[in-house]
This record gives sequence, structure tokens and C-alpha cells, in this order.
Amino acid sequence: MIESIITDLAEKGWCVAPGFLSSGLVHKLAQEAEQLYQDGALHPAAIGKAEQRQILSTLRGDSIFWLDEERATPAQAEFFAQMDELRLAVNRELQLGLFELEVHFARYPAGAGYEKHLDVFQKDSRRTLTIICYLNESWQPEQGGQLRMELEDGGSTDIQPEGGTLVCFLSHRFPHEVMPATRTRQSITGWFKRR
Ligand code: OGA
Ligand code: MN
Repeated sequence: MIESIITDLAEKGWCVAPGFLSSGLVHKLAQEAEQLYQDGALHPAAIGKAEQRQILSTLRGDSIFWLDEERATPAQAEFFAQMDELRLAVNRELQLGLFELEVHFARYPAGAGYEKHLDVFQKDSRRTLTIICYLNESWQPEQGGQLRMELEDGGSTDIQPEGGTLVCFLSHRFPHEVMPATRTRQSITGWFKRR
């Protein structure tokens, strides 16, 4: 699977890999995200960095929890191991020099979305590769919640947030938005950064 991800990234700069995470791992991670929510550990996501940081839930309606690899649960450690395998392959084949991964759980309540944006901050452009792994079992297209990516040919593509699917793309190149859904939508979202 990693080979086809690398090929897609090289050819078009983005990729969708259904079943990247096993359903067992998706189930465990989804339960952990749900528990963190129940414990009140999620906080509303902000937009921008430092003095430009703002919470504008009409633009961005998710709540997040940053993961810490040193305190990872067994399921999170398994996730980090898969990500490291991806990082090493990307560095070997595409020479992106990916170094660290910052990653959070994200939870969009029904009705919440994230307006069209780029994942790179004006003052910090080290984010290089965006990765999103969905944690939603049996997602139905009519439930909404697609990731809408603007492609470089002027078109766009909609990706269903089905559990286990990995989306990754070069952070600088693809504006994207999260469409509101009729059910809670959970993911692990992160960015590989250059030094
Ligand atoms: C983000 C984002 C997309 C998604 O968190 O920056 O664009 O599909 N997420 O959850
Ligand atoms: Mn984004």
C-alpha cells in the first residue's frame, strides 16, 4: 500500500488510501477519541498561529486533542509506527526531508465543518505533508462530511471520511474544506514537518 501512496504523491501530490488503518485499530482509536471527548479533554480548534490565533467556530467547528508520542496508548503507538513507516518511505523516494509529526484527534459535531483553507501558516511554512486518517465506522455518503479538495486542474474531488481511509497531500498545494455532516465525524489529522 505504501508503494502506491508514494506513486500517487510523486505523480499528483495527493492520495487516498482506503483501509490504510485496520478496522481493529480504527475501532480502538475511535473509542479513545470518544473517551477523551467524554472526559472533557478536547478543546475548540483555533485558526492561525501566535498573535493571529483565533477561535471562529463558524469557520472551523472541530474540537481537538494533540497526541504526544511519549504518552501514546498502545493503539496510538501502533498509529505512530505506521506513520513512521510512511515518513521513511516518503523521505527515501521523494526526498521531502520529513522530520517531525504533529498530530491531533479531531471531532466535528453534526453540522460543523471547516471552510476552505490551506494547511500552511503564513509565519511557519514547515508543514509539508498533511495526513488525515478517518475514524468513522460505516460512513454513508448522504451523511455529508466529505473532504472537498481543490485540484490543480481547476476541478475538485470529494473524499468520504470512512474509517481506515488515509488521505495525504502536499500541504502547500491543495486548498480543501470539510463539509458539514449529519453525524459526529472523527479523525486523526496531522502534519509532517521539515526541520
Ligand atoms: C484540517 C483539515 C480535513 C478533514 O484539520 O486542517 O483540513 O477531512 N481536516 O478532516
Ligand atoms: Mn486542513
